[in-house]
Amino acid sequence: MSACSLAEYYAERAAEYDEVYRKPERQQDLARLRLLLPPLVAGKRVLEIAAGTGYWTQVLAGAATAITATDLNAEMIAIAAQRDYGPAEVSLRTADAYRLETVPGEFDLAFCGFWWSHVGRGDIQRFLAGLRARTGPGTHLVLLDNRYVPGSSHPITRTGPDGDTYQQRTLADGRSYEVLKNFPDREQLTADLAAVATDVTWTALDYYWLATCVLT
Ligand SMILES: C[S@@+](CC[C@H](N)C(=O)[O-])C[C@H]1O[C@@H](n2cnc3c(N)ncnc32)[C@H](O)[C@@H]1O
Repeated sequence: MSACSLAEYYAERAAEYDEVYRKPERQQDLARLRLLLPPLVAGKRVLEIAAGTGYWTQVLAGAATAITATDLNAEMIAIAAQRDYGPAEVSLRTADAYRLETVPGEFDLAFCGFWWSHVGRGDIQRFLAGLRARTGPGTHLVLLDNRYVPGSSHPITRTGPDGDTYQQRTLADGRSYEVLKNFPDREQLTADLAAVATDVTWTALDYYWLATCVLT
């Protein structure tokens, strides 16, 4: 899937995006993540990539020193702008995850919620190189994403030549999009990060995985 069609899908989905956080079977995991994440960003200046509606921005805002939350889609940023982040210093801006040099600020930590799974196998090193160039060595990276759970996840409908997997997603009005969505396991993620990061940790919940590392 091209970056353009992924972005278009999410632009069209923005108004209904937060429904995904109302899936009943995922509530226990989500509550756990709301406890696990704040200590990871405590006192940090956070660059959030592909922040969407700001669901996790709000969770991080209680502990981080500052957050610059970015997303390619203005439709997402507009929804994120309606949230209350408390006294935290949160700035929202449109930015392409592959063009992070356009984002001003200094950062100790980058956070990607449900973005890694949309980075094609062939784009992973390009994304990481851009992130590393923008933030520098010693920057912490926190990744949160989905595990594939039959019955809860959209079925995988196709696997591409690079190993990318795809799902067919339908919006409330019936429009259907094929979306690249990868489900790496711990070994795959560790291998993908090996050239640019150290100290990789992996926490598996029932529906999600949470990983941390430090960029070298
Ligand atoms: C699965 S959503 C995740 C949103 C949010 N992080 C969350 O966890 O709720 C993926 C997000 O990636 C954004 N996106 C798509 N292509 C992008 C790109 N090239 N650069 C930055 N954001 C992009 C979409 O607009 C969407 O908000």
